[in-house]
Amino acid sequence: MFKSQVMRHVARATRAQVPRAAVRPARPAVASIRHFTSAPSRFDKSTEDEHNAYTTAAEPGESGDHEGQFARTNQDIKVEYPEEKDLPPSQPVQGRGGIHAKRTLASFSLEGKTAVVTGGARGLGLVMAQALVTSGADVAIVDMNREEAQRSAEGLIELFQKENEGTDKLPKVTAHFCDVSSPTSVNQSFAEILRLHDKVDNLVTSAGFTENYDAISYPHDRMQKLWGVNVDGTYLYAVTVAKHLMERKAPGSIVMIGSMSGAIVNVPQPQAPYNAAKAAVRHLASSLAVEWAHAGIRVNCISPGYMLTALTKKILDDNPDLQKQWTSLIPVGKMGRPEDLMGAVTFLSSDASLYVNGADLRVDGAYTCT
Ligand SMILES: NC(=O)c1ccc[n+]([C@@H]2O[C@H](COP(=O)([O-])OP(=O)(O)OC[C@H]3O[C@@H](n4cnc5c(N)ncnc54)[C@H](O)[C@@H]3O)[C@@H](O)[C@H]2O)c1
Repeated sequence: MFKSQVMRHVARATRAQVPRAAVRPARPAVASIRHFTSAPSRFDKSTEDEHNAYTTAAEPGESGDHEGQFARTNQDIKVEYPEEKDLPPSQPVQGRGGIHAKRTLASFSLEGKTAVVTGGARGLGLVMAQALVTSGADVAIVDMNREEAQRSAEGLIELFQKENEGTDKLPKVTAHFCDVSSPTSVNQSFAEILRLHDKVDNLVTSAGFTENYDAISYPHDRMQKLWGVNVDGTYLYAVTVAKHLMERKAPGSIVMIGSMSGAIVNVPQPQAPYNAAKAAVRHLASSLAVEWAHAGIRVNCISPGYMLTALTKKILDDNPDLQKQWTSLIPVGKMGRPEDLMGAVTFLSSDASLYVNGADLRVDGAYTCT
């Protein structure tokens, strides 16, 4: 968890400050002209350079802390992925219905499809599994947490029954143990899924995790595990499902859950391996989209921004200053709700997006636009 040192830093970083360039007295226009050939090194403090006054090469302190401070990582922040027992459980979201009288495009329906959702026991994976069930699909939840996967599968069916009273057709939702970073475990779980569902048409890869260490002290075994789950796990399940689809000569859709961290660098928490892993997921989606286009298998990526899951909520409840800093950087001014991914995953999984292939759909409240 966060150290007290971290809290001090975050508190300092969130204190409102006027950017120092904004309060400097006006200078003659010539001062802003930079001579490219004579710019001194930014570390050479002895050299007088007007340009320095507007850059991070200047000494901090003249009007508060240094510019750039809000756009930097803080190596003091360390957040280890919590132990399973310390994680709050996720519940299906309420009131989303299923069969209703509102008109919509038939191409959004997933009736008759079977989808696998890795990491579907909780968090974003569970909400996306719910979106697919609501849209007509049968779902196989694949997760390392066997008990929670089973509970969530039962919870989805119960909620479906409640929201669709009198329906005679219930969706089939099953739970399967798998460590997605292990090829053996992936093969075993997929064989089990085929025994229960006969076929698979869709895949959503949500199994993944993040943790925060500065790059210099990131434990190598943790880094390997992080890449093993986020990158290898995504790759292994995608290849397994694509092989099955090709054997059936059936079209299909794969949605990989990346992150805005694959496109930007989050601050202030350092997480270089996670960011690189999510960039890999995004490019894996594009690469496999091209490689499997001939077989009618589409591969797209969803890159969520900061989403308020049970897990992130717990971290932020303990660290309100961090929440302030995160939301201050989101143009829409708030974190996303897991439900905000329901439409995105249904769109990319269904025929509504038949010509969308190799895309990265950012669901981040415009974070990555700034
Ligand atoms: N929560 C966010 O703000 C956010 C933002 C961007 C991207 N993401 C990404 O979304 C995905 C889901 O995140 P979340 O917030 O729902 O996390 P979460 O921890 O709530 O859920 C992740 C699920 O993956 C499972 N899992 C972990 N390792 C596994 C493994 N080796 N094999 C199988 N299952 C495994 C966990 O048991 C858990 O059920 C992750 O890939 C994450 O990187 C999350």
